[in-house]
Amino acid sequence: MCGIVGYLGKGNAKEVVLNGLYKLEYRGYDSAGMSVFNKKNQRFDMYKDVGRVAHLDSLVQSIDHSPIAIGHTRWATHGKVNQANAHPHFSASERFVVVHNGVIENYRELKARYLNGHHWVSETDTEVIVQLIERFSDELSVEEAVKKTVSLLHGSYALLVLDQDNPERLIAAKHKSPLLIGKSDKGIIIASDLVALAKYSQVYSPLEDESIVVINQAEITLWNRDYVQQELTFQPMDFEDDLTELGEYPHYMLKEIMEQPLVMRKIVDRYFHDDHIVIDEAILEGIRQADRLYVLAAGTSMHAGYIGKRLFENLTEKPLEVHIASEFAYHPPVLSAQPFFILISQSGETADLRACLSHLKKHHYPSLTITNVKTSTLAREATYALELFAGPEIAVASTKAYTAQIAVLAVLAAKVAHRDAGLRESISELAAKMEQYLTQYESVAELVKRVLTKQNAFYIGRGTDYFVSLEAALKLKEISYIQAEGFAAGELKHGTIALIEEGTPVIALNSEPHVALNTRSNLEEVKSRGAMAVTIATEAVAQEGDDIVLPNVDPLLVPIMMVLPTQLIAYYAALERGHDIDKPRNLAKSVTVE
Ligand code: AGP
Repeated sequence: MCGIVGYLGKGNAKEVVLNGLYKLEYRGYDSAGMSVFNKKNQRFDMYKDVGRVAHLDSLVQSIDHSPIAIGHTRWATHGKVNQANAHPHFSASERFVVVHNGVIENYRELKARYLNGHHWVSETDTEVIVQLIERFSDELSVEEAVKKTVSLLHGSYALLVLDQDNPERLIAAKHKSPLLIGKSDKGIIIASDLVALAKYSQVYSPLEDESIVVINQAEITLWNRDYVQQELTFQPMDFEDDLTELGEYPHYMLKEIMEQPLVMRKIVDRYFHDDHIVIDEAILEGIRQADRLYVLAAGTSMHAGYIGKRLFENLTEKPLEVHIASEFAYHPPVLSAQPFFILISQSGETADLRACLSHLKKHHYPSLTITNVKTSTLAREATYALELFAGPEIAVASTKAYTAQIAVLAVLAAKVAHRDAGLRESISELAAKMEQYLTQYESVAELVKRVLTKQNAFYIGRGTDYFVSLEAALKLKEISYIQAEGFAAGELKHGTIALIEEGTPVIALNSEPHVALNTRSNLEEVKSRGAMAVTIATEAVAQEGDDIVLPNVDPLLVPIMMVLPTQLIAYYAALERGHDIDKPRNLAKSVTVE
């Protein structure tokens, strides 16, 4: 988690770094800080505080034009959310300044071994990095001191280092946490994500693990893990910066919910040629040869994986298991003889998945990453990658990436099964019907007001509706802070029904005709015990009195339609409670720590 950005050039470093931090705020927003070169006193000044980038912005208003600065936006891992723990961190003499994204697992051992008796200003793991650099720089050049320091670190890091004695140099190092470098004729920018580089770079290059980079006004020097100097290869910047603008919407989440029909059309555009699906043959062959598929993912992406299970098992008759990434990484199950792994990740940076991928690579298993970020680590490091084409997703609560994941899984499963026919039309029709439903999005506000009056709620469903109910509950929890559970409708009576009281909201998702009546009976059971029952149904199974009726679409794609009202329910529940919808408490968009 955390976002870092640094700039050196002819532009105003404060502006560039601030802009980058605003773009990176999705990675953490507990505190924000910046160190910027002050031409008057010829030193790097420090500004940092608890709160958002907007607050930091107000603290640095009066800073003059400066050629060099680094900044950080924090998601706390070690140490409370307070000013002392906010980044950047100074070394003891204040010669060095460091920002860090990642976790140093052996920071206690390093303190004991190299820095015994040192007075620590913060509770962070990061502070050990800057103190070690200072300590080693007594005997070594600064580059060597950084190299020696990072060679001792266990864990993950993307870090930027400034030196008061050489204020025209920025040093960076990275392992496991993402770091990309961008360049224009005005200067050099380095940051955790392409979104922070786009505005100020004509070309960019993602850095490999264990690289060390020294940036001067004139040049960039890159060393690999063996400290051998490398050529940096840049690619043209093709990221459309304006896609991250909020536009007319009050929140990114609402914008992203409304963009979903567009995303479906983009997927059609990118994956179809006429009526045929176009996917790299090597991926298709890899899957066809496998005797079992394994989806590894976390959170919302894992919920998309469950829908993928249904899609693959129905279309290709290949068994598919879904595993929680953080569990699989350290407790892999007994695998089939010829497994094929599908890693689903919006960000492509989730640390739990990266741990899975190192395990897969060690055993030479084939892997496919399905991601929204084509430059991400998981996309680059897996055997194959497929893109979601959902466009940047800024709200922490994932919406359009989830529906894009399901659509891409459907496209992939259909192609593997040689069942392309008609899918293009089905997805296009789905897009039109999603659009039609979303015109009435505001009507959900009324339902939420009437129904979600308690601090707990249930979503229930059968088959794919059960899988969607898991996602619906997660969405409600993460932004409204209502304790919500997604439940297989038939399972409630085996214990959990004890939690139903007068007014407990129970929302049934009902789209599968062969179990529609069973789900209705389960809803009746909770209604008789006082539940505030709500039904969301497709036209195919709808009955009079159902609260939300959704248009019928191709059965393969129904979950994409079913999830829409649940996204809106979460949105309005959070809005009504006055929460920060796009940046819910305790969360970050990209979970880069295990
Ligand atoms: C969902 O709204 C969350 N943001 C979260 O569950 C997310 O899906 C999870 O952390 C996995 O992220 P990824 O898709 O980027 O790997």
